[in-house]
Amino acid sequence: MIFVANYKMNGDKNFYIKVNKIFSKFKSLDTIVLCPPFVYTPFLKLKNVALGVQNVAAQENKQSTGEISARMLADLGAKYAIIGHSERREMGEIDEMVALKVNMAQTYGVTPIVCVGEKSKDDNVMLVADQVKAALSKRINDDIIFAYEPIWAIGSGEIPTIDQIDKVLKIIRDAAEENGINIKVLYGGSVNLKNHKELRTSTADGFLMGGVSLKLDDFVSIIKGE
Ligand code: PGA
Repeated sequence: MIFVANYKMNGDKNFYIKVNKIFSKFKSLDTIVLCPPFVYTPFLKLKNVALGVQNVAAQENKQSTGEISARMLADLGAKYAIIGHSERREMGEIDEMVALKVNMAQTYGVTPIVCVGEKSKDDNVMLVADQVKAALSKRINDDIIFAYEPIWAIGSGEIPTIDQIDKVLKIIRDAAEENGINIKVLYGGSVNLKNHKELRTSTADGFLMGGVSLKLDDFVSIIKGE
């Protein structure tokens, strides 16, 4: 399984010192990826656990005030980058930018974790196939992970049924296969201590977690399957 912590714009020095204490020597057969805000990445001195980030610049142009390039992130040890999270799409990140960011991340050996998902329960979930196709359009290799995150489930405490999740995961996998690639797909959106065992019965290859990643004990219990 792959477990990704998306800390979003949360935490302070003390929090990341605690995260480092828990995960610097953490041993697990699973892939664990911690994605702090950029400024806190130096606090995480990880060995068996991977460092991830929450965004990368879409271009290498040096005249890009406030942006952080994939080259710099790789230089700091980032192995994964969340790309196209719905909160960034909400800020104007369109599919074309997601595709450019995938290209930039792969160029520097950073694995993109691309988020796709429908906005409301009434939306046609086939739209995720277009998001997948767009995200793959500028890839330079097959090193990419997707995360199905129904936007209505993020931070709401509500999750889809396992059947629904499996249905959308199949749409995502099929869309990737049509583009000549086999992918791993995570589930994200209100994963917590109460529902993670049920969610493990889905075909998801792991979880992308926001809120619960801030509760360090709960997060570790979920990784351990407790
Ligand atoms: P949540 O967030 O776990 O708090 O719902 C998930 C995400 O936004 O990636």
